[in-house]
Amino acid sequence: MTVKEKQDLIEKAILAREKSYSPYSNFSVGAALVTNDGKIFTGANIESSSHTPTVCAERVAFFTAVHSGEKKFKAIAIVGGKSGLPISDFCSPCGVCRQVMAEFADGDFLIIMSNGKDIKDYKLSELLPHSFGKDSLK
Ligand code: THU
Repeated sequence: MTVKEKQDLIEKAILAREKSYSPYSNFSVGAALVTNDGKIFTGANIESSSHTPTVCAERVAFFTAVHSGEKKFKAIAIVGGKSGLPISDFCSPCGVCRQVMAEFADGDFLIIMSNGKDIKDYKLSELLPHSFGKDSLK
């Protein structure tokens, strides 16, 4: 992906972050997921007063895309930080979201993060090495 493509995806994640429902943590996260053929699905974290049902932005984006019939993914941009403030630090995906990414994407899937100034990206295989997956059940 070009730097411009990564920046565009980050912009979409920043817009998606505005839809976060996070009154308990006051930490708003936005994600923008792109399929291999260029379709974009976004998500934001949605919390619950009972905490456990809370869903991260990344999983909202993935599950929306999968429910729309998408199966092949290229990259996800993730941004997060204190609600009501612009992002100022990188937001790394939690372990549960990494496992969901591994379910629907291969090791080359790109995870893009921004602190509002710089971009960092990693392959899923770097963030979830030696993962348990479909092949483990064969
Ligand atoms: N959160 C995400 O949406 N994605 C991440 O990668 C890390 C954490 C959310 C979950 C919860 O609503 C809030 O951020 C604080 O943990």
